[in-house]
Amino acid sequence: MDTNIKEIIITEVGTRDGFQSEKKTVDTKDKILLINDLILAGFKRIEFSSFVSPKAIPQLADADEVIKGIKRKSDTTLTALVPNLRGAIRAVDAKIDEIVVFLSASESHNNKNLNRSIKESLLGFEEVIKLANDENIPVHGDISTAFGCPFEGEIPSKKIVEITKEYKKLGFKGVTLGDTTGMATPPVVSRAIRDIKENIPDFEITLHFHNTRGVGLANVLVGLNEGITNYESCFGGIGGCPFAPDATGNICTEDLVYLMHEMNIYTGIDLNKLINIAKKAETILGYSLPGQVMHAGPRLKKYSIENVPTATGA
Ligand code: COA
Ligand code: ZN
Repeated sequence: MDTNIKEIIITEVGTRDGFQSEKKTVDTKDKILLINDLILAGFKRIEFSSFVSPKAIPQLADADEVIKGIKRKSDTTLTALVPNLRGAIRAVDAKIDEIVVFLSASESHNNKNLNRSIKESLLGFEEVIKLANDENIPVHGDISTAFGCPFEGEIPSKKIVEITKEYKKLGFKGVTLGDTTGMATPPVVSRAIRDIKENIPDFEITLHFHNTRGVGLANVLVGLNEGITNYESCFGGIGGCPFAPDATGNICTEDLVYLMHEMNIYTGIDLNKLINIAKKAETILGYSLPGQVMHAGPRLKKYSIENVPTATGA
């Protein structure tokens, strides 16, 4: 594939999208350890947690504590999901670098995930951006179920364009198109990107894919082809929204970094350090994670020949 892109920015969402869907609530100290390792592995953007209702997502109820333990670096932006003014106040108190608000492209998923209509979510964001502006904190907007909804099916790209226009009007710095249940396919992705670019030029687009149907990295290639340089992914390939049926893991960060490096696209991330982080996460969670490069290792990894039997006919 021929792309002019030489560098991408990856936002690691493992301790947010990843841990929100785990049965086991990960200890605060383990979250801090992993995030500090991610910073040392070269990540420049980390969505470290969510300031949402602890009743909705108990796994992330410790966001205010986690951030206190992070050894922050000035060139690593820490972001967190915020659904409402209450969340924004917590984020400001935590001295977050960037607030990420979110709603769904479909009314039914917005209702399940946020207990309100899309219009009510947008109205609430007005209060969030007002506070964020007073505090000089940038706001970014996510659109969940952007490429398909598990309850409503196809999402017309004009719906995504409509919401993105509202985000621009509100003064957000960009939009993330979130593929909550892995319904994105190459034609759907390129259509959505083209429609946004045509209607809202000069607005930063980030892509957030889940690998539910095995085409997550194929969708990234489509994104690159359309000129997109911002992607979100989870170490170990974990992740999923607890309020969407059959939501499974995000695209895996090690697999994404591996692919980018093999295509000579710079990420700034040390793949070996990242593999170690994914292995630590595997130990913490206590089961084999779906990521592939964390198990297979880099392409030119050499195996000891002595341990492999020779096929003989006898
Ligand atoms: N942080 C902490 N507590 C919050 C909160 C926040 N951001 N927002 C609301 N609450 C608390 C309120 O203080 C209130 O507490 P009380 O009962 O002790 O008075 C309670 O939650 C209910 O508040 P309300 O505004 O009526 O919210 P709701 O019950 O309609 O729920 C959301 C709305 C948005 C708070 C909830 O649906 C939510 O947190 N969703 C996030 C889902 C998510 O993160 N999904 C995964 C990401 S895709
Ligand atoms: Zn997700």
